[in-house]
Amino acid sequence: MPDDPFALVIFGASGDLTKRKLVPALWGLFQGRVLPEPFVIIGVARSEMSHEVFRERMREAVAEFARVQPPASHVWDRFASSLYYCAGSPADPLLYERLGALLKELEKDTDTGGNRLFYCATPPSLYPQIVTRLGTSGLHREKAGWSRIIIEKPFGRDLASARELNRIVSLVFREDQVYRIDHYLGKETVQNILVFRFANGIFEPLWNRNHVNHVQITVAESLGVEARGAYYEEAGALRDMIQNHILQLLCLVAMEPPVTFDASPVRDEKTKVLRAIRPIHPDQVDQVAVRGQYGPGFLDGQRVPGYRSEPAVSPDSRTETFAALRLHVDNFRWAGVPFYLRTGKRLPKRASEIAIQFWGTPHLLFRRTNPSDRIEPNLLVLRIQPDEGMALTFGAKLPGPEINIRSVTMDFRYGASFGGEPPEAYERLLLDALRGDATLYARGDWVDVAWEMLTPVLEAWGEGLAPKFPNYEAGTWGPPEADAFVEREGRQWRRL
Ligand SMILES: NC(=O)c1ccc[n+]([C@@H]2O[C@H](COP(=O)([O-])OP(=O)(O)OC[C@H]3O[C@@H](n4cnc5c(N)ncnc54)[C@H](OP(=O)(O)O)[C@@H]3O)[C@@H](O)[C@H]2O)c1
Repeated sequence: MPDDPFALVIFGASGDLTKRKLVPALWGLFQGRVLPEPFVIIGVARSEMSHEVFRERMREAVAEFARVQPPASHVWDRFASSLYYCAGSPADPLLYERLGALLKELEKDTDTGGNRLFYCATPPSLYPQIVTRLGTSGLHREKAGWSRIIIEKPFGRDLASARELNRIVSLVFREDQVYRIDHYLGKETVQNILVFRFANGIFEPLWNRNHVNHVQITVAESLGVEARGAYYEEAGALRDMIQNHILQLLCLVAMEPPVTFDASPVRDEKTKVLRAIRPIHPDQVDQVAVRGQYGPGFLDGQRVPGYRSEPAVSPDSRTETFAALRLHVDNFRWAGVPFYLRTGKRLPKRASEIAIQFWGTPHLLFRRTNPSDRIEPNLLVLRIQPDEGMALTFGAKLPGPEINIRSVTMDFRYGASFGGEPPEAYERLLLDALRGDATLYARGDWVDVAWEMLTPVLEAWGEGLAPKFPNYEAGTWGPPEADAFVEREGRQWRRL
């Protein structure tokens, strides 16, 4: 089936996301000849600028941030001729009149079939207004073609605000028109979790409590908050990383096989995982969750400031820059298998991975030469980024006259096997939304359950006395409590 022509309207077009991700991704698709044509892209923001100035800014953005470089001028000119700009505040009803007139004119000239994709890339406080005004102005209406909306993260900042946003969105758009983006799901390595599990016969029989001892999911960042201090003060690690990206990874690891690889079955199974997570009792938050905040320290030999000294951060901030959680998925497959999640800023390195730790052998045949604590159980590591790939660790005989066992690793690296740069997550996700495939987007009920599940932790951390922050040095693996937390259960965090 040929792809549909379209008009894309980006709210927040003078912002960082549009410049660094959205337009470079659209350009990448165009260069790769997969962007459906004809198309028009209309940027909307309050800053006044002409179509020409907007095109020039986007050319600079593509030159700086795009995967495909540099834009050959005649190809760029063809792409740029489809870029337009419409100035106005999303709060102003008149903006939607002007936008409607521009859309009508361009749709007629360009023959986009009336297909409209709206993209909310403004500060999140504006999403409700944009959706509501799209509704009252009628711009969302499906007349000749389809109409869809992509909503950037964060989707709410707690259960109540996410429910309210879902409610407002549902007054204007049907669920199948709504695309809640989580760019992690567009990463090749994240999509590969399902391929690895469901396109290979040998792993699935092992993928359960009979063979898996526990699972660790780590999203470690070496960066601090950079210029995003104001945003991060309101968010923290739990909202910024765990509620969305890390819970999505957990769902992909823990879900049952969907009946088909389509949006509804895949998203049904992911929501079922969240519903099976053992509820966190408000009195037991300290037993399942640890938080931290970095103080000054050293990274790569450089002295770096503590969180409280970062720009736009309060000198007595209580915001967590590290969070670790232990969750249980109470179902037949995973009963008794803990899932340890951790994320933090200013950790020693940037690394995202999922580690599946298998049980050891039921009987130690080589005990005489290998005391039990010297035989490591098998470990499977899915490296999400960087150094994308996966590694399976197993015991092998060390060459020599005795039976001595050493752990060795079978390593698959994306770069070495497939070469080239993988497409950007936003390329895949934008193309999917244009094709009407929401498989890699979060559904409303998933977002709701994710917030609901974390509410006791958010509430406990939001009130009461904060622990003695800062409680870890920049350049270390988080507060000592995070180690004690898993060691209590006879396990250890992986040293990455
Ligand atoms: N940047 C990223 O890498 C990234 C990654 C993931 C998710 N996101 C999400 O994407 C959204 C946009 O992020 P961003 O980094 O692009 O933000 P940004 O640089 O602050 O840009 C926001 C856009 O909204 C407009 N805007 C700002 N304040 C406004 C206001 N009070 N009223 C009306 N318009 C306003 C700005 O343009 P005018 O001032 O000209 O109107 C600008 O075009 C956020 O929700 C963010 O969480 C961003």
